[in-house]
Amino acid sequence: MKVLAIETSCDETAAAVVEDGRHVLSSVVSSQTDIHSAFGGVVPEIASRAHLELIGPVVSEAMARAGTGPQDLAAVAATVGPGLVGSLIVGVSAAKAYAWSWGLPFVGVNHMEGHLHAAFLEGPALSLPTVVLLVSGGHTMLICMEGSAGQVEYRLLGQTIDDAAGEAFDKVARFLGLGYPGGPAIERAAREGDPRAIAFPRGLATGGYDFSFSGLKTSVVRYMKAGPGAELADVAASFQEAVVDVLATKTRKAAAEVQAKAICIGGGVAANTSLRERVKQMCEDDGRTAFIPSRAMCTDNAAMIGATAWYRLRQYGPTPLDVAVDPNLALDFV
Ligand code: KG4
Ligand code: ZN
Repeated sequence: MKVLAIETSCDETAAAVVEDGRHVLSSVVSSQTDIHSAFGGVVPEIASRAHLELIGPVVSEAMARAGTGPQDLAAVAATVGPGLVGSLIVGVSAAKAYAWSWGLPFVGVNHMEGHLHAAFLEGPALSLPTVVLLVSGGHTMLICMEGSAGQVEYRLLGQTIDDAAGEAFDKVARFLGLGYPGGPAIERAAREGDPRAIAFPRGLATGGYDFSFSGLKTSVVRYMKAGPGAELADVAASFQEAVVDVLATKTRKAAAEVQAKAICIGGGVAANTSLRERVKQMCEDDGRTAFIPSRAMCTDNAAMIGATAWYRLRQYGPTPLDVAVDPNLALDFV
């Protein structure tokens, strides 16, 4: 069963063909980073217009690379939220039009559920319960995936009370003049620095599973204002260490509490080398499986939407064509 999936929730125009929710036959991602970097961040109106121009060619490319025609497909899926409203509308309208004209069911997918499924596209079968650390530009959540492989349920353990982890990377990079997107820029700068040079605060370190990153951002700003000549590489490395430390420590604690068999990471920040190594090491130490998707599966892509669509279609059936996009769409938690 092949699904054509479309993802346009932010500044990536992506399409993929995924078979049986597991086999990625093609995954095309056209990034608009170059267009937006001149502005230091994503400009929503420009993003929508770029999606409009790119969506047709990106879908054609995904179908061609998969060697697939409409007659081979079982459904067409698209991200319906959360994300930028204008961007979402372009992908969802295109997917509905393809589905309707080809006589196929449409499946609306939650972008964050897509990130949750990304690791399992490349890894072995789900071993539940799994604790998932979902860290993107808009979200930071610790989730327990439980139930059985055919009926997965999500339980929210904690989330950020202010900035998302990716947002903190983006804001601090911007403040330090390192450019956009901030995550990869900070990671690059941090390579030459000492992660122990500056003891930046770990937000809500002793609390439960909620996160806070706005104090850390303020601390970096204060540190730079107090000593403008500070070594940028040390600041970047120490900031990155503070984020990774708090993410990894809370994830480890949660995994122990729910007796998780595995830990999985997802979302753009999961592309961070320091976080990946830390999670891998702590899983080795604790005897848990680590699901660490390739970097391409951590950042926005349509393959993860295709995998989620396949599973949703079996569990809940198609989505009505009159469904609206929802910029604030939440995940369904038990
Ligand atoms: O999941 P994603 O591609 O888009 C959203 O759904 O938000 O995540 C984008 C976020 C950005 O904030 C970006 O700075 C961050 O992920 N990011 C990283 C890295 N690569 C991307 N953060 C830290 N280290 C990275 N290597
Ligand atoms: Zn994302």
